[in-house]
Amino acid sequence: MEIVTIRVEEESGHITELEAPTDMSLNLMEVLKGNGYPVKATCGGMALCATCHVTVKEGFDQVGEPATDDEWAMLDTLYNLTSQSRLACQIKIDDACHNILVKHLGDGED
Ligand code: FES
Repeated sequence: MEIVTIRVEEESGHITELEAPTDMSLNLMEVLKGNGYPVKATCGGMALCATCHVTVKEGFDQVGEPATDDEWAMLDTLYNLTSQSRLACQIKIDDACHNILVKHLGDGED
């Protein structure tokens, strides 16, 4: 099993390193939720709720597939859109994700 490291910037600025397997067809939203981050993911990863919104602060150009038109349409509705915004549910965990730095900007749990 291959493992990649995902770096997550906390609200405090602290960076936490998560490990994620590349052979389980996980996406970044699932990894964040699985590690206790308050991602609502109300649409279940269908690119319809944007609660998994992240900004990819390092490695934006290296993460898997570029955003689809559907993902862009959802991102475009966000008040806190950045030039490096993505929906975490649309980022497949693979070797290209190794060492990216992300920050969750979507709505957390109540
Ligand atoms: S989980 Fe809903 S858009 Fe990603």
